[in-house]
This record gives sequence, structure tokens and C-alpha cells, in this order.
Amino acid sequence: MSLTRCFTLLALLLITIQTTLGKDIYHPRSRLSLETDPPNAAEADPEFWARQAASGIARHQRAAAAAGVAAAAAGVAAAARNVVLFLGDGMSIATLAAARAHLGQRHNRTGEEGSLEFDTFPTVGLSKTYCANAQIADSACSATAYLCGVKANKGTIGVTSSVPRASCFAAAERNYQTPSIAAWALEDGRDAGIVTTTRVTHASPSGTFAHTAERDWESDADVAEDCIDVPSDARQEDIALQLVHSYPGNQFKVILGGGRRAFLPNTTVDEEGSLGNRLDGRNLIEEWLELQKERGLMAQYAWHRSDLLAATRAPPDALLGLFESSHLQYHLEADPHSEPTLAELTEAAIKVLSRNPRGFFLFVEGGRIDHAHHQNKARLALDETIELSEAVARAAALLPEKDSLLLVTADHAHVMAFNGYTHRGSDVLGPSDEMDDNGVPYMTLSYTNGPGVRSHSEENVREDITKQKYDDPNFQYESGILLEDETHGGEDVAVFARGPQHALFSGVMEQSEIPRRAAYAACLGPGPRAPPCRRH
Ligand SMILES: *[C@@H]1O[C@H](CO)[C@@H](O)[C@H](O)[C@H]1NC(C)=O
Ligand SMILES: *[C@@H]1O[C@H](CO)[C@@H](O)[C@H](O)[C@H]1NC(C)=O
Ligand SMILES: [Zn+2]
Repeated sequence: MSLTRCFTLLALLLITIQTTLGKDIYHPRSRLSLETDPPNAAEADPEFWARQAASGIARHQRAAAAAGVAAAAAGVAAAARNVVLFLGDGMSIATLAAARAHLGQRHNRTGEEGSLEFDTFPTVGLSKTYCANAQIADSACSATAYLCGVKANKGTIGVTSSVPRASCFAAAERNYQTPSIAAWALEDGRDAGIVTTTRVTHASPSGTFAHTAERDWESDADVAEDCIDVPSDARQEDIALQLVHSYPGNQFKVILGGGRRAFLPNTTVDEEGSLGNRLDGRNLIEEWLELQKERGLMAQYAWHRSDLLAATRAPPDALLGLFESSHLQYHLEADPHSEPTLAELTEAAIKVLSRNPRGFFLFVEGGRIDHAHHQNKARLALDETIELSEAVARAAALLPEKDSLLLVTADHAHVMAFNGYTHRGSDVLGPSDEMDDNGVPYMTLSYTNGPGVRSHSEENVREDITKQKYDDPNFQYESGILLEDETHGGEDVAVFARGPQHALFSGVMEQSEIPRRAAYAACLGPGPRAPPCRRH
């Protein structure tokens, strides 16, 4: 092979790797054209969702009054200074029950009787997760609901359902942009921040700051690919650029997670040897540091766990931490020396944000529960759920119940089933006591769909997968329908609440009511405010 040909092949290979990396392997775009589905006209108006949330709050007030519930006991006596919203991406109720049993079993107990940290919260409700044009949500439209209080189209973030997915112009239209609870907190003089185990430009954290027609537009290279016919100055800004330069992301005091590649030029190699993917040559990490300096803030950038621990001991005014080129490693697979845990990230965030006496809004995401489920890797999904519980425990220890509202929820479910009539204390990640009708054992956890399909014999007899190495974190639990990525589930997810006004989060609510109820409790935003807010 000639040298030129060799170089051409190498360049092609690099381009392929680059493009594959830029795509979200867990969330392939739908084969159906979502653009042709007309949104419900009334729902396109953010006021529709605001009125619905206000009537839900009024219903809770009337119910509490009718029941003669003592104000303090119902958690209605105080206003919330701080709000921390914990999000388990894809943390279905089956995931919670299985993770709780697995946690207990790690401590040599039967397990089922144990509790995740938030199982002890005084209030629990259910959230309906459908989106404007989708029966089953993705993390983009659902983030718009639980952070901005508006239901949007699948794949879109921080915009109303007037914006179709991947439209190169529509999302820049100001009338269609929906502010988040993070922006409401900033407008009140409080601070805001985000923590995630995914890229900080991934769908869920982006709901706090981005306005975009396409969740995949994390860097300018992604926008360029989809909007090739649109002049570059007319294209919508990519999510990383919005985070550093646009309101409200440009006011965040804490940004912690993965995703360095969208912040660095495609010619720059990061601290751990990965290339950036920006085409515009901008180094957004340096630009962020420069912006903080111009504001007179003492800012720090962290890329290693030791930087983070130092920042926790002596909190700076503002902290940007990007610990991987893409997502953080799964906790079970990470190097514990270099990669912080979600609890450590949460503690650092709270230390920085607590410097503002008016209070703060913090978003904390356990984002890889979802990725593990998409690969049918139940052991990883349960471990990531336990890590989220640890982060909640850390926050609960650091923040007083009387002035800090802690919420824990999920954006959508998954299709993992917790099934079979297994005896008490049986390894929840192991085989069921039961056999199928051919006498072949099966696992207590299995999936409706995903890549974990096993071969069946000609007589349609299943393979005995209980003989395989299921203690390997990458073991794929059995799936019924072959799909490269297991899908999300459409049933309700739980909402747990502790702190001021916690009782508001009982009952069944639209996902879009969550930030509006939190804003009511914390005296923020455009909607109704709790009675104690008059003293606030
Ligand atoms: C659980 O039991 C095993 C086997 O007896 C032991 O090796 C392990 O240390 C125990 N773990 C805990 C957390 O007690
Ligand atoms: C990097 O970006 C420049 C500017 O757009 C482009 O010409 C070049 O092909 C890119 N390199 C790679 C490896 O993608
Ligand atoms: Zn997902």
C-alpha cells in the first residue's frame, strides 16, 4: 500500500471514529418523522402548564386545610432557601426496588427490608413522564418538563412544543424558549449549579441552561453536521457554547461532570490524551476561566479527583470540573484515584454554592443508570442507583431539613422487570427459584427488549444463562426482543421530597409540575408562592 493511500485510510478511520463518538449511541433518533407530528396547540403555550401546576398547588392547600393537618407536620411552615433536585436518569420503580435489595445484600442481609437514602423521605408522589409528541419520553423533553415546567417535543431542550426536533432556526426564537428553575433562582439573587456523571452538555443537565431543537448538538461540529446548508453565523449555538457564554449557564457557579471534548478544539489533546471536537478552534475551558476573572471571581478548573477534593476543602467562588472527555466511567469500572464519586461531586458543589447566604438551586444527576439499562447491564444500573443514593445521603447530611428542599426523581422508566417467585433474601442479581415451562432457569431481573437476547434451540428452548458469569459488571441480562439499545419505559416514576413544603409532592402529578411546585416552596419564579414567602 502506498504511503498516501495509507494516510487517506487513516484519515477516514479518524473521521469515522469522530462521527461515531459525536453521536449518542444510547438514544438513536427515531425512525418516525417526529417533525410531522403536530403538537397539541393548547400545550404549546407555557401558560397551559403554569395554570395546571397552579391548580395542583391549590388542590394540595385545600386538602391540607380540610384535613386540619398541622402546618409544621405537613411541611408547609417554612420556605425553602435551597433546592436540590436529584435525577436518576431512567431510574424506574423496579430499579429502585432491586437496588435497595442489592444494597442490603452487599451487607450480608436479606436486603428487601433495606432503604435507599430517599426511601426515608416523608413524601412520595408519582410523575407522568409523557412528552408533547411522545407517549414515552427521552431525557431531553423530560428535562424540559422537570426543569422548565413545560412539556416539549422529544429530542428538544428548553423550548416549547412549537419547536420541532433538529430545526436549525426555530430554537433561537426567544418566544419559544422556556426558562428553567435554575434561571428563576438566579433572578432571585441565589446561585445555581449542575453536577452529573454524564457529559455536562448531555440532555438532562442541559435542561437547566440550554435552548436547543436538538439534544445531539453538544458542540459546533454536531450542529455543522445537521445544518450544513445554514450559514454558520445563522446556526443555533451549540450546547457547550451556550453553557459558557449564554444566560443562565454563564452565571452558574458550579459545573461538574464529564464532556471535555465539546469544550476543546479538534486540534487540542486534553489532560488524559483525548482530542477535542470543536471546529471553531475555541477553547471554552480557557474562555470560562477568563470570564470568571473578568467578573472578579476566584475560579478553579478541575480535571482530576485530587483537584476536586482540594476545592472542597477551600471552596472557590466558581468551579468547573470536567473529569472525562465523554461521560464519567461507571462507578464499578472507574479508577477511584482519579475519578470522583457522585457523592464527592455533590459535596464540592454544595460547599461552593453555600457561600451565597440567599441560597441556591443545584441539579445532581446519576446519569448512567440509563446507559447501563440500555445495554441490559442490570448490575451496573443498580450500582449507579446506589451511588445516587450516596449522593443524596451526603446532601442530606450537609443541608438542614428546615430550609433545604431535597427532591429525588427520574426522567422516565426503563423496561427492566423484577420477576419470578424467588425466596426472600435471594441474590437479586442472580437466578430465580423458578424455571420456565421447559425447565430452564431464568434470572430475577430481565428486560423486555435490548441487546441481551439469547439463542433458542430449534424446539424454542432457551439457553440456561444462569450458568454464565453474571457477577461480571458487563453481564447482559436476558432480553425478549432484540434491539441494539434497550428502550425507555412509559410508566410513571417516583418523586421523593424532604424539607419545606415536602407534602406538595404527594399524589400523581405531571412531570412539568415538579419545578413549579419547587418554585412555589422556594419563593421563586413567575407562579404562585407559598404563604411563608411573604416573610422571606
Ligand atoms: C459478607 O459475608 C462474606 C462471607 O461470609 C464475607 O466475606 C464478607 O466480608 C461479608 N461482608 C460484609 C459487608 O459483612
Ligand atoms: C478540525 O477542524 C477543522 C476546521 O473546521 C477542519 O478543517 C479539520 O478537518 C478538522 N479536523 C478533524 C480531524 O476533524
Ligand atoms: Zn436513555
